[in-house]
Amino acid sequence: MGLFKTIVLGRPNGLRRTLAGKLGLGGAGPAAGSSEPPAVMHEPAERALGLRKEAPKDVTPPDGFEVVLHKDSLDPGKIIEIIIGGTAIAVANVDGAYYAISNTCAHAAGPLGEGSLEGTIVTCPYHGWQYDVRDGACKTHANTKVSTYPVQVVGNAVCVRL
Ligand code: FES
Repeated sequence: MGLFKTIVLGRPNGLRRTLAGKLGLGGAGPAAGSSEPPAVMHEPAERALGLRKEAPKDVTPPDGFEVVLHKDSLDPGKIIEIIIGGTAIAVANVDGAYYAISNTCAHAAGPLGEGSLEGTIVTCPYHGWQYDVRDGACKTHANTKVSTYPVQVVGNAVCVRL
């Protein structure tokens, strides 16, 4: 049950539980059934994620792309989980170049956007499988990959095509 709970709800101090708590969905916030209102009801997603700037709204993304974040929101060497159109992706900043891959680890669906990034390699927070964010190739198990998504930066907007 513990592993199942972790897979569904995320790690106790992970992004999904933090967001669920901030949005009053039963994560790290008030207990379900509590009369205490959630700490934050309508906080912009960027702030809930710890991003410094909102995604630009004055940018027209290329055909098929969506604006996912402000380019100055994600420091070099960082990776973050972002949900667009109901799909969780992980967006990484490698020395100013942005890459987007599936957020779901091929091993047991760990959240790669909550992993650690060194160079172009992200390490899954669950069991340590490693992937190259440039092509999704798994460095831990040959012939295993996760999906990658095209990224374009338009003005200050990082845009991704699913
Ligand atoms: S879920 Fe096991 S290494 Fe990613």
